[in-house]
Amino acid sequence: MTRDEARAKIIFALDVESFAEAKHWVSVLSGHVGMFKVGKQLFTANGPDIVRMVENFGGEVFLDLKYHDIPNTVAMASLEAARLGARLINLHALGGYEMMARTVEVLDREFAGRERAKVLAVTILTSSTEETLREVGIEHPVPEMVVRLAMLARKAGIDGVVASPREVPLIREACGADFLVVTPGVRPAFASTDDQKRVMTPGEAVLAGADYLVIGRPISAAADPLAAAEAIVQEIMAVEG
Ligand code: C5P
Repeated sequence: MTRDEARAKIIFALDVESFAEAKHWVSVLSGHVGMFKVGKQLFTANGPDIVRMVENFGGEVFLDLKYHDIPNTVAMASLEAARLGARLINLHALGGYEMMARTVEVLDREFAGRERAKVLAVTILTSSTEETLREVGIEHPVPEMVVRLAMLARKAGIDGVVASPREVPLIREACGADFLVVTPGVRPAFASTDDQKRVMTPGEAVLAGADYLVIGRPISAAADPLAAAEAIVQEIMAVEG
């Protein structure tokens, strides 16, 4: 894999509060990572200006707002996210087939013939356990639900899923090679695991079949963030020769 291909796999998590902090990280890491993930905290505090700021640095955005609502509301919110220029957006597969299918249909209609944002589904949050599922009346093991929801998302025309590194092989097997898999919970050997429980190294995650890796603190908390990002790039390049 080339250096650029390896870089393109890294999505840096902009888990900061302020516009100024976000801008700092984008200015440091632009050109060294493939994308920037903007989540609910940063977006709620700063709005679409955050996405435009990243775009002004030439960067791409994964707008991680995990929509879950009635089909029309999710489709229209997704349309606005795509119009903003986000390259990746997401929703909860638990919102159901119609919610997902309607979203894809609305985006395809608006972007006919042009490249549109890819839509990812969240299956079961990695913070959920079997007990969490039982509380809401779901009596199935977590891996079974993950595969079931990934397959439902694929059937609805969704482009891929966000999944823990451990789930990647199961999803690949169920949904095929062209279904995108984006995985957080990635920790290079040199970094602390922080609060992540089931981690894989960047190399292992790519080997397992991940298309993109969401990485925050292993880069942001490093003494030299750029060197950390480059070390991760090297590791990814090494995997596939
Ligand atoms: O700092 P760290 O590399 O742990 O950041 C991972 C990012 O991925 C955070 O933004 C976190 O919210 C997100 N994420 C996660 N686990 C999930 C889903 C999202 O860590 N299952």
